[in-house]
Amino acid sequence: MSNRSYYIAGNWKMHKTRAESAELAQALVSQLKDGKHKYLVAPSFTSLETVSAIVEGTNVRLGAQDCAAEEQGAHTGEVSVLQLKDLGVQTIILGHSERRHTYKEDDALINKKVKLALKHGFEVILCIGELLEEREAGKAEEVCETQTVKGLEGVSAADLSNLVIAYEPVWAIGTGKTATPEDADAIHAFVRKVIGKLYGADAADKIIIQYGGSVKPENAAQLMAKENIDGALVGGASLKTDTFVPIAKFS
Ligand code: 13P
Repeated sequence: MSNRSYYIAGNWKMHKTRAESAELAQALVSQLKDGKHKYLVAPSFTSLETVSAIVEGTNVRLGAQDCAAEEQGAHTGEVSVLQLKDLGVQTIILGHSERRHTYKEDDALINKKVKLALKHGFEVILCIGELLEEREAGKAEEVCETQTVKGLEGVSAADLSNLVIAYEPVWAIGTGKTATPEDADAIHAFVRKVIGKLYGADAADKIIIQYGGSVKPENAAQLMAKENIDGALVGGASLKTDTFVPIAKFS
């Protein structure tokens, strides 16, 4: 058994006004204050300042859902790492499947963002995961390996300690269809091996790999029980305390 600690994160995606975000953040701060794991909430950009004031100094970290690949400049509609730092953001989620597939971000762009975020001292959650047709074609490992290797190109071993991987099979996101704990664990073990090849056994043992895709209170404990699953990146169920708190406090 390794001594990796569990990391449970909520990705609020494009949900909630500032008032709604504040209400949820306040409830989570109070209900998770005795929680034993590492926690994070990632609201929309528009709610970051509001939520930042609520989670500051608590055991709930503040995450952003994306960032621009450039530090600043003529990039209409983008949000820079400098602006995120100014709001107290500690972690940036990058390469989410919705960014990859809906907004056509490729591995090279994601890699640029990963390096920029790490350079500015952020923790990065790098999301990887295969489409249903890729899984059915027996290509799940290949896709996850490519996304991991290309996403981490040029990332030093020292910077890797600030990086978390989230395995989110695209077919499990928002579909209610969860990967079985066995299938998820198999990919996590494989990705850990990929990290081992790139950075050595010690780095592979230490890296936190979250699972994401229809995590619910009913399946969290079985997923977390697996050797290679170190936490969760939760979408839909992170939008309410009733569903997020039991996941965050799974036993
Ligand atoms: P769901 O939990 O809604 O399936 O979303 C997972 C996800 O995409 C988290 O980033």
